[in-house]
Amino acid sequence: MWVTNLKIVGVVLGTLALYTLIANEIPQVQSEVPQTLTLGTNVTPEQLVAAGEKVFNGIGGCTTCHGLGTRAPNLLTDETGTGPIGVRCGKREPGKSCKQYLFESLDNPTAYVVPGYQPIMPVMTKQLSPEQVWAVIAFLESQGGTVDVTASDIPSTTSTASSTGGGGGGGGGGLAGGSTDPKAIIQAAGCLACHKLEGQGQVIAPDLTHVGSRRTADSIRKKILDPTSSIAKGYEKLAGIMPKTFGAMMNAAQLEALVQYLAAHK
Ligand code: HEC
Ligand code: HEC
Repeated sequence: MWVTNLKIVGVVLGTLALYTLIANEIPQVQSEVPQTLTLGTNVTPEQLVAAGEKVFNGIGGCTTCHGLGTRAPNLLTDETGTGPIGVRCGKREPGKSCKQYLFESLDNPTAYVVPGYQPIMPVMTKQLSPEQVWAVIAFLESQGGTVDVTASDIPSTTSTASSTGGGGGGGGGGLAGGSTDPKAIIQAAGCLACHKLEGQGQVIAPDLTHVGSRRTADSIRKKILDPTSSIAKGYEKLAGIMPKTFGAMMNAAQLEALVQYLAAHK
């Protein structure tokens, strides 16, 4: 009898130790990632790759889908025998170089959808500044391929002060071409990659079909702008998964249209 009890105590202690470990890890994983990125005209491939790695693991939100198993293709490790992304990127579409394919993946993800996956990847060029986009491309190329991104790929408009998106909260953004159609906003922001709404989308996160009966418009607005402000009941383990970049992606009119649309879902 006491042997069984000891075993249970062992398991409990082991589990506790594991959770303590995880709890200690999480703040480090989410640690400081620069919101804006300034890359000079003399930027080296190594600097681009290093900046891109930070974007990939941080503000880019790429790891919420890539590297979590079956939702999206592996990028940093082998994908069904075709190698990491730097090896296969030049072979995906005939006539497209690796660099062209990777840019297309971020700018127009539905132009080529990897067989076996859903077209849920958000348009990243709407969420990230051109510097961040090209840095991430350099980082992906470095995963088994040749880095040929240079400063000349980054549009020169970015050198004028405060012209890049992704920086300040509030006024920025304008995803989905600035549309105030809530469905277009939800589509472009990629909410349904995690949430269900009226029967569409994924079920990782709370179903939003009746979110208006649980939260006021104010509470929904706060949640979108600062996802850590209030965690949905029963989803505490998933706290921190919802991207924190939506405030910078939408302009004020879009945010309001989205908030009112969701609040009306009683
Ligand atoms: C909401 C989930 C999601 C997020 C976030 C996401 N992706 Fe994807 N991505 C996918 C899925 C699913 C596919 C496969 C279907 C397709 O091709 O659209 C994909 C495909 C790709 C491909 C093509 C892979 C191949 O094998 O050809 C690249 C490159 C890529 N993503 C890069 C990125 C980068 C870089 C980021 C972050 C800036 C990112 N993705 C964020 C879901 C996501
Ligand atoms: C990468 C996954 C992911 C994406 C993308 C995402 N969310 Fe979430 N969201 C979550 C998770 C996980 C929760 C539950 C944990 C929490 O509250 O943080 C959540 C919670 C919420 C809640 C609270 C729900 C409740 O029942 O209280 C709202 C509202 C919400 N999200 C709105 C949105 C909107 C709007 C978008 C798109 C602009 C979006 N989310 C995109 C993962 C995501």
